[in-house]
Amino acid sequence: MLDAHGSILAEAVLSQQADHSPFGGVVPEIAARAHLAHLPALVRQVMAEAGVAFPDLAGVAASCGPGLIGGLIVGAGVGKGIALAHRLPFVAVNHLEAHALTARLPGLVQGGLVPGGAPFPYLLLLLSGGHCQCVAVEGVGRYRRLGGTIDDAVGEAFDKVGKLLGLPWPGGPALERLAAGGDPARQVFPRPLLGRAGCDFSFSGLKTAVAQRVAKLQPLAEQDRADVAAGFQAAVADVLADRAAHALAMMPEARLLVVAGGVAANAAVRAALAGAAAAGGVPMVAPPVRLCTDNAVMVAWAGIERLRLGLHDPLDTAPRPRWPLAELMPA
Ligand code: KG4
Ligand code: ZN
Repeated sequence: MLDAHGSILAEAVLSQQADHSPFGGVVPEIAARAHLAHLPALVRQVMAEAGVAFPDLAGVAASCGPGLIGGLIVGAGVGKGIALAHRLPFVAVNHLEAHALTARLPGLVQGGLVPGGAPFPYLLLLLSGGHCQCVAVEGVGRYRRLGGTIDDAVGEAFDKVGKLLGLPWPGGPALERLAAGGDPARQVFPRPLLGRAGCDFSFSGLKTAVAQRVAKLQPLAEQDRADVAAGFQAAVADVLADRAAHALAMMPEARLLVVAGGVAANAAVRAALAGAAAAGGVPMVAPPVRLCTDNAVMVAWAGIERLRLGLHDPLDTAPRPRWPLAELMPA
């Protein structure tokens, strides 16, 4: 829950990691049922912590896609129910837009850089489990896709390599911890599309290279595991920095490089991208780690940005499993 200025009044994240981890990935049916089981209590908890009653709200925002449809239906249904009961405007938020706008939360940008939040236009590098793209962010609802992955998303690559290394799901955070004890120079991997024109990404060849290396190194010693993790992470960081540099060159008007999505939580990735931003002459902004992975604060903030422009949605808006950012562009 946010106030009108974007200050966080209360927030909660309910992780379903333990429910899905035994299956090595999200099980859609379990996710949908868990949403149903936990969401009402979570909403009550956040309302109580914020000390706000439903009639005091200015609006209700819920993620309506893109993503697994079961959880989206439950979340959107709860949001619409509250909006309907209290006659509030409902905002159907595209969760990618929520990632894209998080950097504009006032007070989030450190160092006195832009105290009011990131100014438009900026280059967004969206690095999550399902998406990996470079986007020119020109305003609320105004997104131009400059490039993206031609196969796996970067978080998906972390998760698959994590599985190869026997790490629990999701692989990203565990892989980062494992890599801390490894030497990236001992297991070197290819850097797909490095130096290539444009700002597309590819990670499936890198993932295959890791699989082949792991097979060759069997039985995998503990140090080998850490070295492979460090080598993979370094390859990803190099590729992302190269692609970001190209994207910045494609968007000379960008005032910032904004990094968002779960993989933006990775310190090696952040450091590499900060280097690319500095070389391109713009500051890099990344939300605090807890606001990089999916969360309701970013959805509420996207709702505020839209409500400020008078944008809200009818209650029969359907959640969407696929919902490209470019489709938000006003005609
Ligand atoms: O944005 P997000 O929370 O959910 C999606 O919309 O996909 O991103 C989740 C992804 C997962 O693939 C996870 O492994 C990855 O972000 N991730 C990380 C780290 N933390 C989360 N990858 C690398 N290093 C991390 N520290
Ligand atoms: Zn996400």
